[in-house]
Amino acid sequence: MLTLTHLSYHPPAAATPILQDINLKLAPQQLGLVVGPSGSGKSTLLEILAGLAERTAGLVEWGSQVLDDYELQYLAGLVFQFPERHFCGGTIIEELRLGHPELNSENIHTALQEVGLDHLSLSTAPHNLSGGQQRRLALAVQLIRQPNILLLDEPTAGLDWSMRLQLVKLLERLKEHWTLLIVTHDAGELSKIADCAWRINQGRLEAIAVSSFYQ
Ligand SMILES: Nc1ncnc2c1ncn2[C@@H]1O[C@H](COP(=O)(O)OP(=O)(O)OP(=O)(O)O)[C@@H](O)[C@H]1O
Ligand SMILES: [Mg+2]
Repeated sequence: MLTLTHLSYHPPAAATPILQDINLKLAPQQLGLVVGPSGSGKSTLLEILAGLAERTAGLVEWGSQVLDDYELQYLAGLVFQFPERHFCGGTIIEELRLGHPELNSENIHTALQEVGLDHLSLSTAPHNLSGGQQRRLALAVQLIRQPNILLLDEPTAGLDWSMRLQLVKLLERLKEHWTLLIVTHDAGELSKIADCAWRINQGRLEAIAVSSFYQ
């Protein structure tokens, strides 16, 4: 179980807190969806959970373990919005091995299989993949590190309808092994696979019923 208690973020540069008193519980193998407008603090929340930004106050726990920012970097894998813009490997295998030269071909094959890209040649250039395939590769880059929690920032943004549906199906499948927390401004098809949901507004989070997306 991922538990956030009274989590706040108020960097000195900001006039008001960016995240205020966030409380959240997400059980393993569940998909949590945080929905909120632009500037509400969604990406900031994920950056804190990925250990990339330092919270001002509050507790983050995984099970009974209290986690510091360094431990969070191992617990969570963050897929940024438009992850394809951050690719820096010349080939699929280079992209997967970046920072992980120890990975063997079995690790690589398993990660690619997990996201349905195992039929591609490892020497394919990431920029030659389709938009949907690039999103899958970005997921594999995180999965290969075996994080406990996958954090996804607007995973369906900029994809056409059929690619979006394929990605949602893949995320539903990943739930069998991973715990997922997704932030988005538009729940869309993601609402169908969410187990729990929250609305975020001006840095404040409130739980909402998943069924409220259909009203
Ligand atoms: N380090 C920082 N210092 C000051 N302000 C910041 C900092 N980081 C983020 N902000 C501000 O915090 C607010 C939340 O930003 P964030 O990027 O988390 O929003 P978001 O919900 O992801 O928006 P979008 O949907 O547009 O991606 C914004 O007003 C942003 O300008
Ligand atoms: Mg954002």
